[in-house]
Amino acid sequence: MTAQIIDGKAFAATVRGKVAEHVTRLKADHGITPGLAVVLVGEDPASQVYVRSKGKMTVEVGMNSYEHKLPAETSEAELLALIDQLNTDPAVHGILVQLPLPGHLNEDLVINSIDPAKDVDGFHISNVGLLATGQKAMVPCTPLGCLMMLRDYHGSLSGLNAVVIGRSNIVGKPMAQLLLRDSCTVTIAHSRTRDIEEVVRRADIVVAAVGRPEMVKGGWIKPGATIIDVGINRIDAPEKGEGKTRLVGDCDFASCAEVAGAITPVPGGVGPMTIACLLANTLTACSRANGLAEPEGLTA
Ligand code: GUN
Repeated sequence: MTAQIIDGKAFAATVRGKVAEHVTRLKADHGITPGLAVVLVGEDPASQVYVRSKGKMTVEVGMNSYEHKLPAETSEAELLALIDQLNTDPAVHGILVQLPLPGHLNEDLVINSIDPAKDVDGFHISNVGLLATGQKAMVPCTPLGCLMMLRDYHGSLSGLNAVVIGRSNIVGKPMAQLLLRDSCTVTIAHSRTRDIEEVVRRADIVVAAVGRPEMVKGGWIKPGATIIDVGINRIDAPEKGEGKTRLVGDCDFASCAEVAGAITPVPGGVGPMTIACLLANTLTACSRANGLAEPEGLTA
């Protein structure tokens, strides 16, 4: 292996430490405690794990955590009424509605009912538009975490060729916007892209966010390129024993690490940065709501 490992777990701990310092100062100097409300509808097991982890880390950095667990049968009107209440609650600076929602609820309608200033996921159409036009927005957590790691490793990203694989609203599209804002030449590749290997081979920066286990091979990678692997895929691991599984990214780690200059591992790469950036966004939202300076190095 030749690539340097970008340790997202350690980086995320540093980000959470910075957030905690700011929270201590907000409390001491202004008597303000940032608050994050997380709304979970239904009993999806993966979502329950995420929400528990978010709540725990929110408290660990000194913020208030408000968890709203609603039954799967919750009506759209009931959910919208809760969001309305959180929108007007001055103790709540960030609102996150855990996705996916049960099928009878309109996700776009629900997300767009959140006050954009409290939309710490950055999914509201106002924030999407603000980001796309280079204005001050709430930026989606996963792409923000990727950007922080890239800036830390490269310093300036200006002029670099970046290929984002995947065109989702949560990762691919906002990632491309952020890289463009940092003056990369950006290509978005996806399932219909022709000669995708050739496209990826031109990249100084590869961000893989397709949700296909180990799709990107070392032969696709330009020597020395930086790889940010957003994928978290659980696959069978018969080598570990009957019925065992393991987590892998969208990149084939072994072959990619032979060629790349730097790479994020799975697990321990992008994953921990997502929650750290959620906390950073909550701090940013709280600072803006109170007319205070934004935390340096924790925003896009
Ligand atoms: N479900 C999986 N990832 C996310 C995320 O980043 N935000 C929300 N709200 N739901 C998710």
